[in-house]
Amino acid sequence: MSKKMLGVAVIGAGMAGRAHAAGYRMATTMYGTDLPDIRLVAIADSYEPFATDAAKRYGFDRAETSWQAIVDAPDIDVVSVVVANALHREVVEALLAAGKHVLCEKPLAPTVDDAKAMVAAAEASDRVAGVGFTYRRSPAINAIRQQLELGAIGGIRHFTGRYWCDYAQDPGAAMSWRYKGGPGSGVLADVGSHLVDLAEYLCGPITSVQGAVMETYTRERPVPRAATMGHSGGDVTGQTEPVENEDIATFTASFSNGALGTFSVSRVAHGHTNGLALDVLGEAGAAGFDLERPGEFSFAHGGQSDNNDGARRVLVGPSHPNVPGGQAMDYTSVGHGQNDFFAWQARAFLDQVAGLNNLPPLPPLSHGLHNMEILAAITESAHSEGRTVQVRQALP
Ligand SMILES: NC(=O)c1ccc[n+]([C@@H]2O[C@H](COP(=O)([O-])OP(=O)(O)OC[C@H]3O[C@@H](n4cnc5c(N)ncnc54)[C@H](O)[C@@H]3O)[C@@H](O)[C@H]2O)c1
Repeated sequence: MSKKMLGVAVIGAGMAGRAHAAGYRMATTMYGTDLPDIRLVAIADSYEPFATDAAKRYGFDRAETSWQAIVDAPDIDVVSVVVANALHREVVEALLAAGKHVLCEKPLAPTVDDAKAMVAAAEASDRVAGVGFTYRRSPAINAIRQQLELGAIGGIRHFTGRYWCDYAQDPGAAMSWRYKGGPGSGVLADVGSHLVDLAEYLCGPITSVQGAVMETYTRERPVPRAATMGHSGGDVTGQTEPVENEDIATFTASFSNGALGTFSVSRVAHGHTNGLALDVLGEAGAAGFDLERPGEFSFAHGGQSDNNDGARRVLVGPSHPNVPGGQAMDYTSVGHGQNDFFAWQARAFLDQVAGLNNLPPLPPLSHGLHNMEILAAITESAHSEGRTVQVRQALP
C-alpha cells in the first residue's frame, strides 16, 4: 500500500500501552527514511488521566476515552490494541471492519474460540493484522536462532525456559484484570504465552504437552480504589475479590524435531521481577539468553569439555539482527532492552503497512491462535493429572 501519511493510535495507556506509544515515537528515527509521514494521532484509555498523560508524554495529538473513537476516526490507519485480554476480540474485530491495520497484544484472546474468530476476521480483511510477540525482536534471540538454523549446535535435544515474575508475590497487591478469567488465564497466559512462542521461534513446532501442574497461592485480593496500571495497584479498599487463575504453572513439551521442553512460569517468584531466561541444548553445543542481560547471549559449541571449555558470552552488536540502524548509536555493547523491542516491533508494523520489506513482519494472528491452542493444551493437561495432550492446530 502506498499512502503519503499514516495516522497511528494506541488503545490502552497502561504499562504496555505506553511502551507501544513510545515505540511509535521512536520508530521513524531508526532504519531507513523511506516510511511515509507518520502522524501520532491518538491514545485511548477509558481512564482519562492515563490517556491524557500518555498523549502528552509521547507526542500524540489527542486523547480519547473510548476505543470506539479510534475505530470511527478517519485520520487513523494503524492501531495497537493494548488493553486487557478480555477486550482484544471486540476491539480487533471492530478495527478490522473499519479498515484499520492492527497490532494486538498477546495473548491474542481470552479463549481459543475468540482467537479463531479474530483470525477469521483478519483473513476476511486486506489489512495487516499481527500479534505482539515482542521478544521475537530481540537481537540475541535472533542471533541464537541463526546459529540453530546453521546447525552450529547440532540437533536440538532440550529447550528449557522460565519466566519468573514477582508482581503477585505480595498478597496485598491489588486486584486487576490479570487475576480474572479461568484456569490458564493467569501467569500461563500472561507470560507463559511469550515463553511458549519463543520456544517455537527457536526450536520449531510443539506437538504435545505433558505433566502440567498449576497452583494458586493468593485466593483473594483487595479491590483498588482507582484505575490501576500494570502491576502497580495503588490504594485499595477494604473489600476483596476472588483470584480466578494460577500463580505458577510448570509443564513439559515435545517438539516435532524430537526435542523435549521443560517450562516454568511464575508471578510469585520473589526477587525475579521480569525473569525470562532460556537455554537451548543441542548434541554439539548450547545457547542461552537471559532478559536481565539482553545485550548478550551465551554460546558453546565444539568438542567435549576440557579444562578450558564452557559457554562463552557473546556481546550483541551490528553483526547481529535488528541492531544495524536500529539504534542511534548501533555499536557493540552500547546496550538495549525491552523498550527497544517495542520500538523495533512498531517500526516493523509500519514498514509492513507501507509495503516496505525491510524487517521481519509481525507474526500473523494465526500464530497467536496457535499459541492459544498450546496454552489450552497445557491447561487441559493440568486438569487431567498431567496427561499428554496433543496440540490441536499445527504452527501455521
Ligand atoms: N508484549 C509485552 O511484552 C507485554 C507486556 C505487558 C503487557 N502486555 C499485554 O498488553 C495488554 C495490556 O497489559 P498492561 O499491562 O498494559 O495492562 P494495564 O492494566 O496496565 O493497562 C490496560 C489499560 O487499559 C485501560 N482500559 C480498560 N478498559 C478499557 C476500555 N474499555 N477502553 C480503553 N481502555 C481501557 C485501562 O484503564 C488501563 O490503562 C495485555 O494484553 C497484556 O498481556 C504485553
